[in-house]
Amino acid sequence: MLDRPASMRDRAAMYNTNTLKIGMFGANCSSGRSATKVPERWSASWPDCLQMARIADAAGIDFILPIGRWKGYGGDTDFHGATLETVTWATGLLAATSRVTVFGTVHAPLFHPLIAAKEFVTADHVGEGRFGLNIVAGWNEGEFSMFGVTQRDHETRYAFAQEWVDIIKRAWSEPDTFDVDGEFFQLKSVRAFPKPHGGSRPLIMNAGSSGTGQAFAIRNCDAFFTATSLSRTSLEATAKKVAEVKETARGLGREIEVYSVGQVICRPTQREADDYYQHALIDNADWGAVERMLTLRGITPENTAPDEYAAKRRYFAGNAIGGYPFVGTPDKVANELAGLGQAGLRGIALSLINYVDELPYFCDEVLPRLARMGLRT
Ligand SMILES: Cc1cc2nc3c(=O)[nH]c(=O)nc-3n(C[C@H](O)[C@H](O)[C@H](O)COP(=O)(O)O)c2cc1C
Repeated sequence: MLDRPASMRDRAAMYNTNTLKIGMFGANCSSGRSATKVPERWSASWPDCLQMARIADAAGIDFILPIGRWKGYGGDTDFHGATLETVTWATGLLAATSRVTVFGTVHAPLFHPLIAAKEFVTADHVGEGRFGLNIVAGWNEGEFSMFGVTQRDHETRYAFAQEWVDIIKRAWSEPDTFDVDGEFFQLKSVRAFPKPHGGSRPLIMNAGSSGTGQAFAIRNCDAFFTATSLSRTSLEATAKKVAEVKETARGLGREIEVYSVGQVICRPTQREADDYYQHALIDNADWGAVERMLTLRGITPENTAPDEYAAKRRYFAGNAIGGYPFVGTPDKVANELAGLGQAGLRGIALSLINYVDELPYFCDEVLPRLARMGLRT
């Protein structure tokens, strides 16, 4: 096992031939991606995370993507108040699994790049080439002030992230001692060994939504995650977005894959799925947490008309936190996922309200349907 090949192609394919990759998103954070008060909401405890990862690994789920989060959003549940640090979490999960790719999600301004590069190498050796890196440039002011770190302006954040990832890549690849004389880092006689597993490097992803964030992903990353342009009626918009990102990358001589995110509520009947969606995400929403997240994005009752604010609140609870909701029978969920695959998306990172309770049904019912549609083997 230790000398398993790990070319960039193997890593990007996540060591399988599935054309539509399916991932689990947000399981390291309490309540996952659902600001709900239902008692079965996700705990994010280590035993629960481990069980989720083992189910995912055995069923052929392709990747696991955590959220880099340091501080809860308040509300009755303190949504995301308890989170496991993502690189140490990924390392533990990689040691306990054998097929699934596990990402760490790292805020570049909070981790020295040489410490980060070595943590990633360590995780990658534990996982024999299955570690991936999600780079976050930063957006949440309150999290940064907790560290005593001042958030840079938006453009400078990405200039910093560029220097940061350049150093990481050099630490992963430079055969000799090297110096860095940059705008943000001056490093002398750097030595970084061992290199990542198998003579290549971990997959890198970014999920910036601005033009600058997208340009950063296209220049540096293997995967670009977008939360936008997903809806039942916008397969065309998705296809256009995917084509645009890939084309821009090719212009730079690079290949990039486009992924998206969503939330699944899959039940034997549409009625059961709709009822649970209403019950968990609307009737039992943690509105205090939803409102706090809106405030962080600059949307308040003071600056938004009452009707518009109510619509945003409802939308955010039922959709935007978990991403596009795939709610319905296995046939419906599989068909919607397949449509996105056919529109060119390489994969989708999904969240569930309780990953351990709901993942087996998803894997038993939805994955074989995707296989029958030719998107997975
Ligand atoms: C799939 C996905 C995953 C993300 N993961 C995190 C995360 O774990 N932690 C975080 O602080 N921000 C996360 N973000 C936010 C983005 O990294 C980015 O900061 C945000 O989309 C704003 O884009 P911009 O930096 O281009 O303005 C995520 C966004 C998406 C769509």
